[in-house]
Amino acid sequence: MPKANSPPLSPEPELDLSTKGQVKDPSALSSAVEAAKARFLERNPISGKLFEEASQYLPGGNTRTLLYTAPYPICMKKGEAYKVYDEDGHEYTDFVGELTAGLYGHSHPVIQKCLIDTITNVGLNLGSTIAQEAAHAKLMCSRFHLDKVRFCNSGTEANMHALAGARYFTGKRKVVVFSGGYHGAVFGFWDGVQENGVDKHEWVIGRYNDVEGAKKLIEQDDIAAVLVEGMQGAGGCIPGTREFLHQVQESAKKVGACFILDEVMTSRLSPSGLQAILGLSPDLTTFGKWLGGGLAFGAFGGREDIMAVYDPRSPSSLAHSGTFNNNTLAMHAGFTGLSEIWKPEVAIEFNELGDSFRADLQAVARGTKMSVTGRGTLVGIHFSQEGTTEIPCREAIVEDWDLKDLFFMEMMEDGFWLTRRGSIALILGTPKSELDRFVKSVGQFLERHQNLVTLAK
Ligand SMILES: Cc1ncc(COP(=O)(O)O)c(C=O)c1O
Repeated sequence: MPKANSPPLSPEPELDLSTKGQVKDPSALSSAVEAAKARFLERNPISGKLFEEASQYLPGGNTRTLLYTAPYPICMKKGEAYKVYDEDGHEYTDFVGELTAGLYGHSHPVIQKCLIDTITNVGLNLGSTIAQEAAHAKLMCSRFHLDKVRFCNSGTEANMHALAGARYFTGKRKVVVFSGGYHGAVFGFWDGVQENGVDKHEWVIGRYNDVEGAKKLIEQDDIAAVLVEGMQGAGGCIPGTREFLHQVQESAKKVGACFILDEVMTSRLSPSGLQAILGLSPDLTTFGKWLGGGLAFGAFGGREDIMAVYDPRSPSSLAHSGTFNNNTLAMHAGFTGLSEIWKPEVAIEFNELGDSFRADLQAVARGTKMSVTGRGTLVGIHFSQEGTTEIPCREAIVEDWDLKDLFFMEMMEDGFWLTRRGSIALILGTPKSELDRFVKSVGQFLERHQNLVTLAK
């Protein structure tokens, strides 16, 4: 069992419906949360039953920690376009967007056709090289300015292999990362190195957006790589500043460390990722999520000389295998999504829509304990006693989880599917009217709970 003082395995504590609020009148918040919980139990009996059954075979009825919420998670039955439907018969606008992987939604006709064609005409997993992997690689190299790329099955794997490559290439072992960063299942840096993290003694953890701190940490002799998100996604949609990210890049280049930009989430923020917006040229970039068209996917790529460590024609190359690395469905659906749906003009327009959505949310949140962060179509919703709006790093805000829980449950009642931590990843094709309905619903929430959310003057 984890030690009592070990860091949490997920970025948020379990849904705690007890009276731990930090408001002036904790009992008022606690009563509101209790009432919301009672309504939740009443509205979702089938999810409750399914959870009990699942708990007999899965620890905590769960196989993705993030998706566990007490008293039990909602069990979804199906999805269609930008909507999901639960087992108890409720319909939701899906703002979870499979944590950015669901960019194309649940039933995009172009993706559906591609999958059916692939199953019908190609088959599953041929146990061989297929031409489609080179086609997807070529497209990714041109869109993301990579010399070479390799595929894997998840963003976690992409980071694992990028790090291994960087270490092998530099002959060094230390890796600089930043607190609040999340780079995959065994690469979370919430409050130090997570208990089930890998290579725990090699990490050097800096503070996100701390320009001078990053310079100091990176400019040492023994740093193999710096691994950083251009915007911390799981950490709360906290954008990295241009100055910070360019300092990371400059310092890494100065000492010959590999600058690895984790674009597993942020690659959808422009036609060529966040790096294009910020003018960054990472040595390696890691990808995943939506670039598999909705199927399990990961990729890492960048500089020719670094990626050459994975060239099997060299006797000293690193092995990089994976049964499903080039599986037919992800290779076809990823390519089709990127070439036929996610055209540059679509990426630009969709992210502009996200920017105006976020601005609308920020406007309704003004003067309250809610704050809104993010970039483009990725949004982070925060609640804190101070209503902190400047959030350069995880350490800058103490989230009020009771308010977050209340928000989470009441937004569900209004028909919006969110993560409990308050992150939103918009699905392409979500009508503007649904975004406006959400802004209105948030405004009504803040109005309804004025006594709990208004900032003291
Ligand atoms: C920035 C970032 N890197 C890596 C990962 C890991 O990706 P996967 O869940 O596909 O392993 C995630 C997942 O959320 C992520 O947000």
